[in-house]
Amino acid sequence: MLDDPAAELDAAAWARVFQEAADLGVLQVHLSGGEPAARRDLVDIVASAHGAGLYSNLITSAIGLNERRMLALRDAGLDHVQLSLQDADAGSADHIAGYAGGHERKIAFAGIVTGLGLALTINLVVHRANIDRVEAMIDLAASLRAGRIEIAHAQYYGWALRNRSELMPTRDQVDRAIQVVEERRRGLVIDMVVPDYYARRPKACVGGWGRRSLNVTPSGRVLPCHAAETIPQLEFWSVRDYPLEKIWLESPAFQAFRGTDWMPEPCRSCALKESDFGGCRCQAMALAGDASATDPACELSPFHGRMRELASADAGAPIGAYVYRGR
Ligand code: SF4
Ligand code: FES
Repeated sequence: MLDDPAAELDAAAWARVFQEAADLGVLQVHLSGGEPAARRDLVDIVASAHGAGLYSNLITSAIGLNERRMLALRDAGLDHVQLSLQDADAGSADHIAGYAGGHERKIAFAGIVTGLGLALTINLVVHRANIDRVEAMIDLAASLRAGRIEIAHAQYYGWALRNRSELMPTRDQVDRAIQVVEERRRGLVIDMVVPDYYARRPKACVGGWGRRSLNVTPSGRVLPCHAAETIPQLEFWSVRDYPLEKIWLESPAFQAFRGTDWMPEPCRSCALKESDFGGCRCQAMALAGDASATDPACELSPFHGRMRELASADAGAPIGAYVYRGR
């Protein structure tokens, strides 16, 4: 959920949150959005993350960032930049992003990032409109001197769920793309998130609920994952009201699905429950209507067949118009 800009935490509040996070043992901060570059005080925010000893990663669309501003961010202690590309074909990339000229701008921005000596990850978001060009997308990312390439098949919660019938690839397309990635892994650092709708077992979403990471929204609500607000019954505490440690240890949202006691069958008696933690709570909410259900990506879930049916129905539909956040 996007916050009203007037309700966002100021730079001093972010500095306190970063210090509290570092005191809790957090090592990295990922500055995301919306678009973090929309904050005029982004340099101060990065400086306070650096001052707290956190490794900082700026996740950006490149809008609002020129070389002068990137230099200031680097000098403030920024460690890493993550940039997503929508396609290798500029016309298609601009169409997917809904932003004319955006692709060209991102290519130029990648050059600024590496020219300043900052580490760069290129995130390739893969779906039906671009999956057949995944090899060209990898070539493009490699040519931009990305130290790491992330192939992220769209995951269907939040806005991607609203666009699922436009985004879902076919099973054959996914299999071919996985093969291409495996072949291109030699000599390149490529991470891949495969699409849940064609999986047999779920991923350990966010490394397990309330185990390894937390999200702080621009206005200060603390979430166990970026999509947790899609689960209606959860109560989120704010860093405006409580120290981060208390929120992490005691807030209802973090307690709701931490550990394994909350699990129903078949997860409760499954040997994999300490490996995948029952999968993704937001996906269970979206497809089973119950955030405590077994993730439908698991073939032991009673909703798994339904998930497969949805995937093939959506993948067979013509691609229509995308629905964009905030437009
Ligand atoms: Fe994971 Fe639950 Fe499926 Fe077992 S039953 S593999 S714990 S999602
Ligand atoms: Fe929320 Fe997976 S996205 S638990």
